[in-house]
Amino acid sequence: MTGHPQLELCADAQLREHNSFGVAARARLLARAGSLDAVRVALDWAERESLPVEVLGGGSNVLIASDLEVLVLQPRLLGIQWLDADAEFIRVRAAAGENWHAFVLASMHRQAYGLENLALIPGSVGAAPIQNIGAYGVELERFVAAVEVYDRSEQRTTQLAHAECRFAYRDSVFKQPDFRERYLITAVEFRLRRQPDLQTGYAGLREELSARGVTNPTPMDVCAAVCAIRQRKLPDPAVIGNAGSFFKNPIMAMHSALAIKAQFPALPIYPAGADQAKLPAAWLIDQCGWKGYRSGDAGVHAEHALVLVNHGHARGAELLALARRIADSVHARFGVDLEAEPRVLGG
Ligand code: EPU
Repeated sequence: MTGHPQLELCADAQLREHNSFGVAARARLLARAGSLDAVRVALDWAERESLPVEVLGGGSNVLIASDLEVLVLQPRLLGIQWLDADAEFIRVRAAAGENWHAFVLASMHRQAYGLENLALIPGSVGAAPIQNIGAYGVELERFVAAVEVYDRSEQRTTQLAHAECRFAYRDSVFKQPDFRERYLITAVEFRLRRQPDLQTGYAGLREELSARGVTNPTPMDVCAAVCAIRQRKLPDPAVIGNAGSFFKNPIMAMHSALAIKAQFPALPIYPAGADQAKLPAAWLIDQCGWKGYRSGDAGVHAEHALVLVNHGHARGAELLALARRIADSVHARFGVDLEAEPRVLGG
């Protein structure tokens, strides 16, 4: 598999630079593909060699727990196309390899609104639908018209409509292993608003806007406030390795949540539709005393209990072991099971 102009190959590749946790691990082969054709060449080759493939976007939502005997494929598909607009909506197609935050800024510049609460989330456009990224009261799915994928079985690109993506809280069809093996996200088509419809109900966001003296916010004000909160609370992966929230906020039947609250009255609970409640995993972990914990270079961020951090040279396996200890302690104290949010590779 050589000679393709848009395919860069590296055997026995170091992945430290390619994951936001900054953990060292090797891949049997790393392929960076700058076009769909190059992606196809890499996938066909892996098929012939019976080498499993892992697709890595920005690497900001994975924990690499060991060396990987696989082909790690980084599709670098770029391009933003403004498709059409009517009185209410603007349609835009962004290729999977575009940087998410840069795309958010480009959309604001174009006066296409909706993504302001999702500013500064690390990662690529193509990774965003996989976990249905969400922040400050807004989830990505609200703006996704369709997701374009390359189907490895049929060897062609196709589009999945919004309903076929089966979006849920930090979840989608793209997380299912059989789906992941068959399809690779190549682009996302968004439907953004011409008129702002600002979502400023999230307590932290409301407080930030009022602290800035903003009473009648513009989309740019919301975007700036979101960036300020994230910069204050969440560690910058360029400075300290992390993958954002390490656990999902657990969702359970409202009566189960209320039973826990009866024992721990300070527990915040949030309604999550049809007799369901969402509990803040950060609060549960914080109560177990983990905030700021450090063992070697693996730790829990001092400002936010939901974020595991790599202070320098932690191995993926150490971070995974720490995550298990945290989940065990939360289970022992509250009887609540935590589910990891990033994808764990190897281990
Ligand atoms: N809390 C604590 N201790 C802490 C941090 C928070 O007790 O150390 C409590 C807070 O008091 C608050 C609650 O936990 O009542 C929720 O905290 P926060 O508002 O920071 O949000 P979160 O539920 O921890 C979620 C997302 C974040 C997103 C924020 C803002 C998940 C798994 N995480 O965090 O997403 O930025 O809301 O909307 O849903 C990510 O997915 O990587 C991510 C950072």
